[in-house]
Amino acid sequence: MAGKVTVVGAGFYGSTTAQRIAEYNIVDTVVLTDILEGKSEGLALDLNQSRPIEGFETKIIGQTTTVDGQGYEVISGSDVVVITAGLPRKPGMSRMDLIETNAKIVRGVAENIAKHAPNAVIIVVSNPLDEMTALTQLASGFPKERVIGQAGMLDTARFTNFVAEELKVPVSSVKTLTLGSHGDTMVPVPSHCTVSGKPLSELLSAEKIEELVVRTRNGGAEVVALLKTGSAYYAPSAAAARMAKAVIEDSGAVMPVCAWVNGEYGIAGVYLGVEAQIGKGGIRKVVETKLSDSELAGLKEAAEAVREKQADVKDL
Ligand code: 2OP
Repeated sequence: MAGKVTVVGAGFYGSTTAQRIAEYNIVDTVVLTDILEGKSEGLALDLNQSRPIEGFETKIIGQTTTVDGQGYEVISGSDVVVITAGLPRKPGMSRMDLIETNAKIVRGVAENIAKHAPNAVIIVVSNPLDEMTALTQLASGFPKERVIGQAGMLDTARFTNFVAEELKVPVSSVKTLTLGSHGDTMVPVPSHCTVSGKPLSELLSAEKIEELVVRTRNGGAEVVALLKTGSAYYAPSAAAARMAKAVIEDSGAVMPVCAWVNGEYGIAGVYLGVEAQIGKGGIRKVVETKLSDSELAGLKEAAEAVREKQADVKDL
């Protein structure tokens, strides 16, 4: 076993991501950092003590860091760095309401990663996702294929779960897809949804599918409203950990992620939710799939909405 993954931010999202990656038992080391003194060290101690029970050898290192970069030496040599740093939403907030606060935090983190782990693939999960991914690429100066955002895996998983619950079938029999932004212009793609190979449109009415699409688009807010403090982390961390695994294993898995799009679907020069093949260098290639006219129009609309916001992040 070789390899090292760092997770920046030891909140629920970060700590569960670190736990999942460690439990895969595919890397030597998982580093968990946070600016709260002792928090990541405490969580690392606890996680390491779970190793004999869960049966994994990956060692977890906790490290307090400062905004000016102290403590970041520990991330050196990381193959993957997952950025979870930043504030989550409060009930009633949109992800976009976090942009100014989280931009400052994410910019600082990206600069420290560039300094200490210049060869890493960065997976961004901080919100607003598409904008924080673009900002991370700018602030790190990394090649665009080495900066990826996590959103599509999560949104797709939510959609799949809702379909499986509605039809009372195993989640494993359902395939769904969501593209576009991790926000209002998310594009669930019903034409690619199947249950045991059958088109979803043969199993559910158009109204019911639209209801599930809307619930998927609001999937994060639904959890935030119930929790009252904090946002979802079990499904989000599962998605981020799978992306890290695809990088570590150089698997070539095709996943919906936030990737730099350069001509695919007739869209260029923007970070957008699309399917992409993931390997040790990050994005191997964006995979274009056939969309209906309205789905393609939705994707283009999402691209223009996030393009406008992404243009602003350089000043944040
Ligand atoms: C969500 O959708 C945290 O944005 C994430 O739950």
